Amino acid sequence: MDGAQLGAGMTLLDVGAGEGLVAFRAIDRIGPSLRVILTDVSASMLRHAESIAVRRDVRAQCTFHVCTADDLSAFADASVDVVTTRAVLAYVANKKAAFAEFFRMILAEQFSADERDFFEKMVRPTIESGNHSTTERAVYMQAQKPLA
Ligand SMILES: C[S@@+](CC[C@H](N)C(=O)[O-])C[C@H]1O[C@@H](n2cnc3c(N)ncnc32)[C@H](O)[C@@H]1O
Repeated sequence: MDGAQLGAGMTLLDVGAGEGLVAFRAIDRIGPSLRVILTDVSASMLRHAESIAVRRDVRAQCTFHVCTADDLSAFADASVDVVTTRAVLAYVANKKAAFAEFFRMILAEQFSADERDFFEKMVRPTIESGNHSTTERAVYMQAQKPLA
């Protein structure tokens, strides 16, 4: 959560959100300006998360969507600031497709052509190969500026 560098007014996508542990923790940290999209393959799990959101009085800043981690086609390119996914990828058969979707969701106009180039040539292949360090993964997941 620290690594995500969340800030006011951001949008967080939590993939495989389950009961919403990550999403609600993020809301606790940032407050009412944070928008959170919770996705999960399980509709009943998301209904449960929604009931918790209502109870915590944060329903208005949450969006719930049933989908698999490797198909986020309901959402536009570059439409979120941060993607989180905790204890989910082990269940995802097509991890490469899931990572491609995460990239699509966070790669934004804010990157210069050089940064996008670095991201595509250096960061993406490293992450998708699975041969990455924790730091590289954190950089990738945050869609922050590339490693120097
Ligand atoms: C161990 S729970 C983790 C829940 C939550 N991320 C957390 O940290 O508390 C795994 C979650 O991944 C979801 N899940 C499993 N396979 C999935 C897939 N292919 N796409 C999206 N979600 C999936 C499950 O429904 C479940 O809610």
